[in-house]
Amino acid sequence: MSKEQRINFSSKLAVIAAAAGSAVGLGNFWRFPYELGQNGGAAFLIIYLIFVFLIGMPIMMSEFVIGRMGQKNTVGSFKQLAPKREWWLIGLMGVVTSFLIMGFYSVVAGWTMEYIYQAITNQFVNKDTATLTQVFVDFNTGTWRPILWMIAFVAISAVIIILGVKDGIEKSTKVMMPLLVVIIIALGIRSITLPGALDGLKFLFHPDFSKITSSVILSAMGQAFFSLSLGMGCMITYGSYISKKNHLSHTVVEVSLMDTTIAVLASIAIFPAVFSLGINPGYGPELVFITLPNVFAQMPGGYIWSILFFILLFVAALTSAISLMEVIVAYLVEEKKFKRFSATMLTTLVIILFGVMSALSFSSWSDVKLFGMNFFDLFDNITSKVFMPLGGLLISVFTGWFLSKESVKKEISSHGKFPTNYYNAFIFLVRYVTPIGILLVLLNQLGLFKLFN
Ligand code: PHE
Repeated sequence: MSKEQRINFSSKLAVIAAAAGSAVGLGNFWRFPYELGQNGGAAFLIIYLIFVFLIGMPIMMSEFVIGRMGQKNTVGSFKQLAPKREWWLIGLMGVVTSFLIMGFYSVVAGWTMEYIYQAITNQFVNKDTATLTQVFVDFNTGTWRPILWMIAFVAISAVIIILGVKDGIEKSTKVMMPLLVVIIIALGIRSITLPGALDGLKFLFHPDFSKITSSVILSAMGQAFFSLSLGMGCMITYGSYISKKNHLSHTVVEVSLMDTTIAVLASIAIFPAVFSLGINPGYGPELVFITLPNVFAQMPGGYIWSILFFILLFVAALTSAISLMEVIVAYLVEEKKFKRFSATMLTTLVIILFGVMSALSFSSWSDVKLFGMNFFDLFDNITSKVFMPLGGLLISVFTGWFLSKESVKKEISSHGKFPTNYYNAFIFLVRYVTPIGILLVLLNQLGLFKLFN
């Protein structure tokens, strides 16, 4: 696409809708609760919040700045801003990361489609926890069904990508987000009023600091990157579609707050129920899919709520998946001169390949392991705990140390249009706090540095 033809988000709301559509997704409803459950509850939540504010928000700002200054895809933007230097490799790592994330994300999105089907056919009523767990396990260990749903999901995303980013995402996010919040609050109310729910709230809000280990810290940091769609060029790509009139810092704050609030609300809906039903909070990726059907089954109007919820979850996953695929497609179109259609086709095929590998991790390939993990866990862990933090570290170094202070200031103030009283704090964060923070967490995990066990 030539510069003239590049899409631009039409309004302020469109920008927020797109960025929030990317951020809010399975990461909030599926990954956050299961990570929190596996990593000690409230202590994880606190560390997570610290990472969102100190690392996530500055990096989101940096990505918007790079994308809007570079006016290109994630590789092209770096080439534009740092010609003849190797910084574009950060962008390339982002493209690879997008493929890997989509490899497992599309599988979980497929689960939501299966659950739309199960909700519509009223399969949650009169089943106890053990049966509902078994239902999920049977589905997920059956080879074909998860694969077919995954393919269906990637195909739907591909169609939207071919039709262009703007309209669809903007419209669906504007409708979806408020509805999703209403349902999650209704679910939360039901969940908190279940017998024994208090233990869940305690788990969620009463921190046990002895549970903090280096791997809990790394998981919380990885989750912040994953949930805010950071460190892999997604917000760079979307940043390049943001008009110069937009006030970037407002978008950053609004998107981060929305994303974090929804993740916390989702946990309030899930953990009281988890404890009330006697489910192990550390169950893993399946946690949400075995917990929520239980809650719906015990809710007045549960049939309708459950259908609505899983449809919205699917839409939330879709707007995130589109942002992931857009990273790759924009790269192929602008740097490799693909047509948008063939770029999407190629991307789709590769994602399906990774998707099959992840889907089979729960059935015939459960024993196929690399670094001690099946493909699903490998793609999940390597992206959020290695590639995204590494990408984020380099992005903040690029913004803080490579780009000139004047040009960054010009960009965040939209050429003097908006006040930038937070500017010095921002530069301090991206120069020192984010890179050093990320580095310490990674080194600590590798055992090269000991802050926590
Ligand atoms: N943030 C999305 C979610 O929470 C996932 C995502 C990660 C999307 C990285 C884009 C880039 O579901």
